[in-house]
Amino acid sequence: MKLALALIATVATLSFAGHAVAGAAEDIIAKEKCSKCHTATTTKKGPSWASVAEKYKDKPEMPAKLVNMLKTGVPLSGKTGEDDQHKKLDGVSDADLKAIVGIVLSTK
Ligand code: HEC
Repeated sequence: MKLALALIATVATLSFAGHAVAGAAEDIIAKEKCSKCHTATTTKKGPSWASVAEKYKDKPEMPAKLVNMLKTGVPLSGKTGEDDQHKKLDGVSDADLKAIVGIVLSTK
């Protein structure tokens, strides 16, 4: 009985740790309201993430460039009608930025 409980606790801890990694990126996407302009498959103010993934699928240099884009913001030349910079993620770690870009680029 004790062993069974210990096993359950271990499994629970492991699956929670696994989720926490993906969860952080997803939480940031939710918190920063990327969905105001992006959805997985439909074009809103910004391109759908599936179309971004399709556009860059053969470009191994893109993940790093998109991480940089999210870190520094890029000029949007009035495309959103709001401000002229793409949303910038200040204070987000590189690991989380990579995970966010990973989510975008794996969208189908
Ligand atoms: C105010 C609207 C808006 C918000 C909010 C927004 N985006 Fe965007 N995003 C855009 C627009 C517009 C483009 C297209 C830029 C272009 O074509 O030059 C874009 C492009 C992109 C691209 C593709 C860039 C490329 O090279 O094709 C990625 C990746 C991206 N956004 C990620 C995000 C993430 C992640 C968030 C949330 C942290 C976010 N965006 C929030 C409007 C927005």
